[in-house]
Amino acid sequence: MSLPATPAPSAPTTAAPTQADLLDFVRRTAADRDLIASLPLDPEGRTWVRLEGPGGSEAWLIGWPPGTGTGWHDHADSVGAFLAASGELKENSLAARLPTDGWKTLELSEGVDRERRLTAGQGRAFGRHHVHEVLNESTTEHAVSVHAYYPPLPQIRRYSRTGQTLRLESVERPEDWQ
Ligand SMILES: [Fe+2]
Repeated sequence: MSLPATPAPSAPTTAAPTQADLLDFVRRTAADRDLIASLPLDPEGRTWVRLEGPGGSEAWLIGWPPGTGTGWHDHADSVGAFLAASGELKENSLAARLPTDGWKTLELSEGVDRERRLTAGQGRAFGRHHVHEVLNESTTEHAVSVHAYYPPLPQIRRYSRTGQTLRLESVERPEDWQ
């Protein structure tokens, strides 16, 4: 009896994309100026175009008019990356792991806040359970960014924040934002 044929030694296509893969994707995508310029911009609110991410990941091109933001949210078990293609974005994030379930409000300890500014061409990757809000604080300039998540987002938990108190407001599932 003969052994089954072994697969070709180089077949990395089924591997789950890593944070580095996603960051590489958003960087390459942001360099496609025609694609970036194709995003419709609306001064009244954010705009989105869904992209094909690498390895089955979920990807988006997002336009941010001045003064818009996401509000605090997380991405459950997905890892991700995003990068400013034009304009500048501010990210506020928490250097803390939140309990996944069973709470409505949470008192954050001092010192868990992080902030960074992403100017055009700058991005970041993040791991599972990352909690953040992203804002365009400019009063005059639109920002455009590229985002990728893997696995595709199963849910987003949204929070409000008053001082150090984080309150779970809603859980959105894909059908809510399609
Ligand atoms: Fe996010």
